[in-house]
Amino acid sequence: MHQDLSEVLYSAEDIASCVQRLGAEISADYRGEKILLVTVLKGAFIFMADLARCIDGDVEVDFMAVSSYGAEAKSSGIVRIIKDLEAPVEGRHIIIVEDILDSGLTLKYLTRNLKSRGPLSIEVATLLLKEGKQQADISCKYVGFKCPDEFVVGYGLDYAETYRNLPYIGVLKPEVYS
Ligand code: IMP
Ligand code: MG
Repeated sequence: MHQDLSEVLYSAEDIASCVQRLGAEISADYRGEKILLVTVLKGAFIFMADLARCIDGDVEVDFMAVSSYGAEAKSSGIVRIIKDLEAPVEGRHIIIVEDILDSGLTLKYLTRNLKSRGPLSIEVATLLLKEGKQQADISCKYVGFKCPDEFVVGYGLDYAETYRNLPYIGVLKPEVYS
C-alpha cells in the first residue's frame, strides 16, 4: 500500500469484478443499441477503459473535462467545461461515466447540459458513490461501490494530480491534504 494511504477500500480484484458486473448490466440493458460513453476526465479514464471492455455491444467513447475542484479536496459547486465532446449527442444513447459522486453538483450540471443537446436517453455510471453526501437530486443507474465519506484516491482518482496510477482505491491520510 502507498505510504500516504491509511487503508485500501477496494483491491484491484474487487474493482475488476465490480466493473464486470456493471458491464454485464449495461450490456443487457442496451442489447442491440449503440452507446456513447461520455467519460468525465480525468478521474474516470481508467474506469471507462475497463468498463468499455466489459460491455458486449457497440460502444463509442468521447471525453469531457470539467473543473469543480482545482487542487482542493472539496467541491466548490462551480463547474466549468474545459473540454467539450467531439461527438454529437442528439439522437444517441448516452452513458455518463464518472469516477465518484460526492456532492453531485458536477453531475447535475453535466446531465442538464447534455440533456439540452437532445439525446435519445441519458444515464449515469459511477464507480463510487459517497453515501449521504449528494446535495443534488441525481439519478444514477449504475453504481459500483457505495463508499464511506472519506477522501479516496487511486484507479484514476487523484489528489493534486497524484495517485491516479494506483491499481486499488484507498483512503488518503488527512495530513497529506490538510
Ligand atoms: P461533486 O461535484 O462534489 O460530486 O464532485 C465530483 C468530482 O469531484 C468527482 O468526479 C471527482 O473528480 C472529485 N472528487 C470528489 N470526491 C473525491 C474523492 O474522494 N477523491 C478524489 N476526487 C474526488
Ligand atoms: Mg470526476
